[in-house]
Amino acid sequence: MKEVQLLKQTLRNIMANHHHPPDDIHRPQWHLSPLVGLMNDPNGFIQFHGKYHLFYQWNPLDCDHSTKLWGHWSSSNLVDWNNETVALLPCQSFDINGCFSGSAVNDNGQLVLIYTGNVMLGKTEAERTAWQCIARQDSHGEFIKQPVIGQLAGYTGHIRDPKVWKHNNIWYMVLAAQDLQLQGKVLLLKSPNLEDWELLGEIAGSTVGDTPAFGYMWECPDLFHLDGYDILINCPQGVKAEARRYLNQYQCGYVLGQLDYATGNYSHQSFVELDYGHEFYAPQTTLTTDGRRLLVGWMGMPDQDEFSQPTLKFGWLHMMSAPRELSLKDGKLYQTPARELQTLRQHHQHLTGCADTLNTLDVPSAELIIQVNGNFQICIANTLWLQCDTQGITLTRQSLSRDENEVRYWDGKVEQLQILLDHSSVEIFINQGLGVMTSRYFPKNTPQLIFSGDANLEVDYWQLNAMSLT
Ligand code: FRU
Repeated sequence: MKEVQLLKQTLRNIMANHHHPPDDIHRPQWHLSPLVGLMNDPNGFIQFHGKYHLFYQWNPLDCDHSTKLWGHWSSSNLVDWNNETVALLPCQSFDINGCFSGSAVNDNGQLVLIYTGNVMLGKTEAERTAWQCIARQDSHGEFIKQPVIGQLAGYTGHIRDPKVWKHNNIWYMVLAAQDLQLQGKVLLLKSPNLEDWELLGEIAGSTVGDTPAFGYMWECPDLFHLDGYDILINCPQGVKAEARRYLNQYQCGYVLGQLDYATGNYSHQSFVELDYGHEFYAPQTTLTTDGRRLLVGWMGMPDQDEFSQPTLKFGWLHMMSAPRELSLKDGKLYQTPARELQTLRQHHQHLTGCADTLNTLDVPSAELIIQVNGNFQICIANTLWLQCDTQGITLTRQSLSRDENEVRYWDGKVEQLQILLDHSSVEIFINQGLGVMTSRYFPKNTPQLIFSGDANLEVDYWQLNAMSLT
């Protein structure tokens, strides 16, 4: 595979010398985005030998989903990142139509990627099969691939996105699958060695246990233990929109439960959305050595106006969310920006007073913490509108392709907001992270933020520095 190695090195050199044009005003300055082409899911998020590694679904050839390889970034502090050599290219019979999403583990000091090899058998979406594969990193840094799970009886070819973890010296995997009745499921498997896997059964999914019909595919499952619960994150496709929830093309949420490792039985509560904004999908978590559960997500949504985004004309599409820390309080999942991001803060200002009287702020890249007391509105770049009242938050933006507004809701009493902005993205953390709304927006000029309303606000505002990406 000398050619593959040469190709990877060539790509690495091109990446190192890549510069963004200055008129590309939507390019984030401290979030990760693809140098060229389309990125989607975070993959293989892990802290390994003291360094964070974040792989990602990447098509460097075009802004579409036709090719999928694993790009790779690394970081020692979650703020400054390195472009690493591409990790996985679809070049074997078992992954020829894409190295799809998956995870990473530390197997006795060796970094191992576990991913899905997508293999198309015909021209339609349904004519496909999938291999679950491992790729062990050798002493030269190369990933040596091996298919370990083939097509599973009783399921269609839509089987993918293995997330693996170790419990009591045994490896466990959650895997997204679709049964022959076209219902989305999450499977649990176990292995002594990452190579020989035994299917334990379906632990969750549409029509499993108490769950009603809830989608034809549950993509990107992730199961982890946090503060007394085994939390299952998953992304159901095919769920009907309701008046104030499930408003994106596909859903992304979690259930709280208990996994009985002895029986493989998982009992869980009902589905809760993880993010209430316009774009957040396929998140993945990892456990840090200091005991934090971190989550990153794709700030994108498949099949939802993706190709109307104006960054296409600069040859790139989509970005990663900020890393978030997860915690549980009173049976609710909280997400807050990773504390490392505070090192980006510059030029602090403190504003107080009635929203109508507060200064307009420059927010190409900024953080705001707002103590809320009453009703108010925020307008960002005449492109995105946040309305906060006694019911909760309404976030509105103009559709990129239709003459209509796209509105998203968070219901509840708002006490505090922490807002992160980065050129074309906003992440709104409500009440210390009890709710989050993540959305892209595309201002025409350097964005400004205008407050209005009669609420008395107390605002801390920082401009945010750029990350270094080398
Ligand atoms: C989620 C997803 C995964 C799949 C990957 C392909 O966005 O559809 O299920 O592995 O993207 O890029």
